[in-house]
Amino acid sequence: VPVHLVDRRPQVAAGDLVSGLVPPPLFDQVSFASYRPDPTEPSQAAARVTLEQFADRVGALPARASRFRRRSAAGVAAPGGVYLDGGFGVGKTHLLASLWHAVPGPKAYATFVELTHLAGALGFGGVVEALGGMRLLAVDEFELDDPGDTVLVSTLLTRLTERGVALAATSNTLPEALGEGRFASEDFLREIQGLASRFTTVRVDGPDYRHRGLPAPLPPLADAEVIAQTTDLTASRDDFTALHRHLLDLHPSRFGALLDGVTRVGLLGVAPVPDEATALRIVVLADRLYDRQLPLVASGVPFDQVFSPAMLGGGYRKKYLRAISRLLALTRLGRQLPTPPAE
Ligand SMILES: Nc1ncnc2c1ncn2[C@@H]1O[C@H](COP(=O)(O)OP(=O)(O)OP(=O)(O)O)[C@@H](O)[C@H]1O
Ligand SMILES: [Mg+2]
Repeated sequence: VPVHLVDRRPQVAAGDLVSGLVPPPLFDQVSFASYRPDPTEPSQAAARVTLEQFADRVGALPARASRFRRRSAAGVAAPGGVYLDGGFGVGKTHLLASLWHAVPGPKAYATFVELTHLAGALGFGGVVEALGGMRLLAVDEFELDDPGDTVLVSTLLTRLTERGVALAATSNTLPEALGEGRFASEDFLREIQGLASRFTTVRVDGPDYRHRGLPAPLPPLADAEVIAQTTDLTASRDDFTALHRHLLDLHPSRFGALLDGVTRVGLLGVAPVPDEATALRIVVLADRLYDRQLPLVASGVPFDQVFSPAMLGGGYRKKYLRAISRLLALTRLGRQLPTPPAE
């Protein structure tokens, strides 16, 4: 009998949040050495060199035993931050995690969503205490869905840089262009500007690595095939529409825990999503599925038809394209698996 994700409402303890601030499983083992720059995209090799140098600089800073502010020793430059800018699937997370692995601890790695959740659990001051002693904080997928969260995270990053924490971040747009005209608040713009000035931008150009030289998306399976491939205890099987309705009721920070113990995900009746709120939840779910490299088996429409042309032409275009790229990659993973024996 498979798991039904719609029956789960996970809670996560505060202590587990801090100890869980490491790269996701897919990026456990990555390194600068395993990053293969595309020779036709010179920015990739250049980005690796810049990040290796940044890792050396951050690693050379004296480690701190106390939580007090680090004063820059003579001749030691303040660490500041690097911002990896590029399209989806160019290897930003690979490089960010490689940087994290290359720097000696204490250090932390989190997505933007995880940081906001941490702040919810520990309070702002609690997060500053928990992370203020780090040598490096890597933040993947800086998001701007919510101006409140953006201010929260940029203020947090500002406090942490003041304590001498080196920062590294990714998102799909330049810090100066984040939120492009979607939010008018002057405070918000001021926050972004302040944040942007702390980062050196490292550009990573290139095509989506996940689809380098790959054929067109696989056609979806029939319902019966999805059912046959999701019969074991660690598979999940849900109706796509019921699942995305459930996601609207659940904070996005819980989507990872929703997938605990699941080794394969079945979705029945994948269909175009009705609205942007749902679409953005699907994006977060796609991220958590992808972090865990969960093979996907699905019936209905192919994932490149889930988001409407209007959505794909709107402000969240890059998020949707990234989600499609990830879901198609997981679908391919799903096809390589043998069908388990039926119950
Ligand atoms: N140059 C490269 N050499 C080796 N592996 C790579 C390279 N670029 C990407 N990859 C691999 O391709 C996959 C996608 O890369 P990654 O997730 O780092 O891209 P990304 O830019 O963070 O994409 P997204 O926009 O989806 O966040 C990962 O498994 C990563 O390890
Ligand atoms: Mg990434």
